[in-house]
Amino acid sequence: MKVMVIGGGGREHALGWKLSTSGMVNDLLFVPGNGGMEELGECIKTDILDFDAIADIAVQRDVDLTVVGPEEPLVRGIVDHFREKSLKIFGPAAGAAQLEGSKYFAKSLLERHGIPTGEARLFESFDEARTCVESLTPPIVVKADGLAAGKGVIIAESVNEAVVALSQCLVDKVFGKSGERVLIEEYLDGPEVSILTLSDGNGTAHMVASQDHKKAYDGDTGPNTGGMGAYSPVPLLDGHTESYIHKKVMDATIAGMLKDGIPYQGVLYGGLILTSEGPKVLEYNVRFGDPETQAVLPRLQSDLLPAVLATIDGTMADSAMQWSDDYCVCVVIASGGYPGKYAKGVPVTGLKAAASDSHVEVFHAGTKNEDGRIVTSGGRVLNVVARGDSFEEARGLAYQSIKMIDFENMHYRTDIGHRAM
Ligand code: GLY
Repeated sequence: MKVMVIGGGGREHALGWKLSTSGMVNDLLFVPGNGGMEELGECIKTDILDFDAIADIAVQRDVDLTVVGPEEPLVRGIVDHFREKSLKIFGPAAGAAQLEGSKYFAKSLLERHGIPTGEARLFESFDEARTCVESLTPPIVVKADGLAAGKGVIIAESVNEAVVALSQCLVDKVFGKSGERVLIEEYLDGPEVSILTLSDGNGTAHMVASQDHKKAYDGDTGPNTGGMGAYSPVPLLDGHTESYIHKKVMDATIAGMLKDGIPYQGVLYGGLILTSEGPKVLEYNVRFGDPETQAVLPRLQSDLLPAVLATIDGTMADSAMQWSDDYCVCVVIASGGYPGKYAKGVPVTGLKAAASDSHVEVFHAGTKNEDGRIVTSGGRVLNVVARGDSFEEARGLAYQSIKMIDFENMHYRTDIGHRAM
């Protein structure tokens, strides 16, 4: 099969890497890809929101299957567009992708089907929202309803901070249409865990659990980022709680979507908080997590492709994937200054040496190939991923491999997995 992967980050490199090991895949294309993905297949520089152009590539290149990485094309309807042209594509249609595209849609669905989550209220009026937060005790969660490139969630430590966040959304419209409606949510306290579930709209198969690190600096301090590292499994998640999440949260959500006439096909990412009252849904994403995917896929022993196809063909069974007992740790290397301003075009060295151990993969994110050498092109640059028989072994190997990589002003956290140790 010829498979086209949409996206250009570490998640898509990991997806391409896993698909490249499938006996059923003989050719890979990436749109737009990055410097690392070029080693797996051709990278075509096309706007990932230009659905006509991408569908043309699929037709002209005889692509058998398209796998979508990021949320924005899904929320904007790339799957519907491909289906209209009878092109095979992995992911939810726009209606189902509202689970990420509208936080209010997701919250309403959870409440309607009795799935545990924090309480929330929707506001369109700044004055009404302000009156609401003035009656609350911080921390107060303010969420833009729509997609906001990961920046639409504000955890305010004071009422004043919450009012500022509301004003940015509802008055200044810093998130445009995405922030014209906001949710004021109950703050959920506890460790976070990510669960990825594949579904054909009815049947499900759950991937192994993982946990990411969103803060830029050690000790979970500093600004939020797209993710500075991840690991799998999550030792503090016991088997009982994990199967509760599978049945009462993920399966219940898929069943709720089906019952509501909006079947969910693709991968559903559940971000859950393990509160003292039990697991509660913090958010849903309609795609694989980044960097969770980089820490989860190396543990998948079976072929990913049949499981992906099962979501489309309606043959998903919980036995679709087999997992190793390995531990896997992913450490993200970022450009100095990220998530603020950072330099681009900085040459990167040591990539081959870092990946020389068979238990290590280096997945590229913000890189490009410039005249045969890899240079930085984004905030998150690389993901160094290591497997081991124990958590300590995997973590030690990841950090040992990182030392071989060098570029000016590179930054990575030195404590990925500290919560698991
Ligand atoms: N790791 C968080 C996300 O993928 O949204």
